[in-house]
Amino acid sequence: MQVKDLAATNIPVVAPDTPAAAVAERLTEAKSQCALVMSGNRLAGLVSDQELRTLITRKNLDAKVPVSELMLPASRLAILAADASIERATEILAEHKVVGLPVTEGETVIGVLTRDTVLTYFSWQDVARREREAWERRAGTILKSLHEGLIVVDRDLVIREFNAAAERLTGNKAAERLGQKAKVLSVKESPVFKVLSTGQPIFGEQSQLKDGRWFLANYVPLVEEGEVTGVIQTFSDISEQKELQKQLQGARDELDKAFALTLPNSKVEHKLKHSPEYRDIYLLHSKKIRITEVIPDGCYQHVVNSMRVAADLNEKGVMNLVGINKDTIVQSIVFHDIGKSQPQLSVGDIVDPKKTFEEGHLHAARSADIAGNFYDKNADIVNLIRYHHHEENVLPADFPSYLLPMHRLLKVIDGLSACLTRRKGAYTAVADGSRLLISERNGHPQFNNEWSIDLFTGERHILQTFPVSEEAPQVANGSAG
Ligand SMILES: [Fe+2]
Ligand SMILES: [Fe+2]
Repeated sequence: MQVKDLAATNIPVVAPDTPAAAVAERLTEAKSQCALVMSGNRLAGLVSDQELRTLITRKNLDAKVPVSELMLPASRLAILAADASIERATEILAEHKVVGLPVTEGETVIGVLTRDTVLTYFSWQDVARREREAWERRAGTILKSLHEGLIVVDRDLVIREFNAAAERLTGNKAAERLGQKAKVLSVKESPVFKVLSTGQPIFGEQSQLKDGRWFLANYVPLVEEGEVTGVIQTFSDISEQKELQKQLQGARDELDKAFALTLPNSKVEHKLKHSPEYRDIYLLHSKKIRITEVIPDGCYQHVVNSMRVAADLNEKGVMNLVGINKDTIVQSIVFHDIGKSQPQLSVGDIVDPKKTFEEGHLHAARSADIAGNFYDKNADIVNLIRYHHHEENVLPADFPSYLLPMHRLLKVIDGLSACLTRRKGAYTAVADGSRLLISERNGHPQFNNEWSIDLFTGERHILQTFPVSEEAPQVANGSAG
């Protein structure tokens, strides 16, 4: 910081013959502590507001006395060069015990550096320094208490920060690593290089170390004054979660194998495992869908998930209701989509679901024929399958009314399984006698709400609708299953 950076340039300038009272008035108007007395371009002296007032009031001085008689003449003033340091100027101010000193640039007087400005500057600096120290202490405490490892490298890959968790997770000592070059993979593969060159963060990188541990890491650019100056890497050990995931997958695989055993024959299994389902984004404005994922064995997964929903509802007592036959429901689930014919779509395709997917009641009729004629399923199962895409008001007149509770239940199970399989959603169900209270959470406006249905009466109420974003995942064929 130089003198010119802090010098006041709005100091009143008066001529040597200006009467003392007029100078005092100028100082009040300008709210200034001092005035420069100039004779043309030449500095004649400096007069301080406080001294001037003391002289006028206490010593009963004639207010008409010219300021040249009361000022500190230039000959007794130290002049500060504009490019002198503030520290040196402060020393000079202290020696002279004056309210301020003139500042010159070459021959020209450009302003005055006052004692008050210097005091304010140093006290502000002191506050700023104390705040900075407090912040550094706080940041240090945060870094130490972080459960995640944190390493900061600069552009030359020199390690600048290495917190306690990083020591624990890597087995290295911060003292030995700080200031050293970071060990990275090849330039091509290293996320650190990618972040340095693109300035974009990378989140959720999973990698396995030689000792078998799995780490999850985030890489965020360190940006200072608009430039990427380094990379902040945070990481945590996710080996336990990975192991749990593996166990869970193992349990699921076993469940799937067990389920496959319950299927009537390998043809049914083959058909289900080779009928795809699609995950997609529902484009609200065009009412079209964009395919985001192909599930090659989607029908199989849909049936397995239907069984899971059925098991969940069984646990809640739904299968114990009169009029509900568990075996009929289970067999209906196995065969309900066996006749489904799906289009071949790829990720990224944008299609009109109504034109692309066959109407539900067509595969329902086909599935019913297959179940009745090739697998000897009884009339109740065949009827339930044939009409699983029919709303109640369009059921044929001869549809047996005693099947209605199971028809409603099958539709509930089918829809909730679609929520799990195709919409990656979640649901909760509560059974209260013949009434089911269901809360579905997924991206499709039609299926994202809390609702109730009475399996005996068919009375259905939407209790609450959850908002859906503009682009939302939905069920591929626009129906519930
Ligand atoms: Fe279906
Ligand atoms: Fe279905």
